Amino acid sequence: MIIAIDGPAGSGKSTVAKHAAVALGFHYLDTGAMYRAVAVRAVAKGLDLGDEAPIARIATDEPITFGYTPGEPLPTSVFISGQDVTLQIRTPQIDLAVSPVSAFPAVRTALTQQQRCFGAQFDTVMEGRDIGTVVFPQAELKVFLTATPEARAIRRVKQNAERFAGDTKSEAFAAATDEAAVLADILRRDAYDSSREVAPLAAAADSVTIDTTDMSIDEVVERIVDLAQARRVQGAQGAQQTQGAQDAQAAQQAQERAAQRGQA
Ligand code: DC
Repeated sequence: MIIAIDGPAGSGKSTVAKHAAVALGFHYLDTGAMYRAVAVRAVAKGLDLGDEAPIARIATDEPITFGYTPGEPLPTSVFISGQDVTLQIRTPQIDLAVSPVSAFPAVRTALTQQQRCFGAQFDTVMEGRDIGTVVFPQAELKVFLTATPEARAIRRVKQNAERFAGDTKSEAFAAATDEAAVLADILRRDAYDSSREVAPLAAAADSVTIDTTDMSIDEVVERIVDLAQARRVQGAQGAQQTQGAQDAQAAQQAQERAAQRGQA
């Protein structure tokens, strides 16, 4: 079963998707981290961020993997070509670089393929911008999370403060926890992600939209887990009905064949 969770930056996707995955015993895939890992490599190699071909080669050739800490159900680190980029992918520099990188069709094709491969193997809660629309349009449950830009900026600052807690004197900490700058970046990325030509951020027609502005994380997770359980039951009933319909059709065909034999 695939649960697609899409929405803009800071809508609570990551936190909610992780909790829902643990509650349901599903795998979790953060597709934004994959685009970010490609951006880290592109910046490290000094590539021109307007040049698609060499950046697409990173997406096709350099394996992105997730590291797990023993005893913890969710991935705790991200690697590209074996290099740990867990902290680097969250810096303001990469917040900026990831927009053009993720707008390249060839980069999207490569990462979409890897995401489909992951989802084909495991029950997965997958979060991103285009999971319900492009990566898994047949996902059993599609959720689109929203919240006001201000609420999203406050959440992002809190999250960044926790991430960079070991490094509070650094420039990265100061930049990542500056609320006005974070809000400006969120608005910039909303505009960019929604207006790009390939796989723009959009709610799938059959998704459930949840405005999380005034909801606690637990409330949102509970809603998603309830929806997932309901879809599971519906799926099982649908499969039973399909099997029942197939059985009835087979019985009718057998009767028709018997009748034809009788006439012959
Ligand atoms: O979710 P995030 O902020 O970590 O995502 C980083 C960037 O990657 C974001 O600006 C949009 C892009 N992205 C995308 O285009 N498609 C996805 N499925 C996930 C992220």
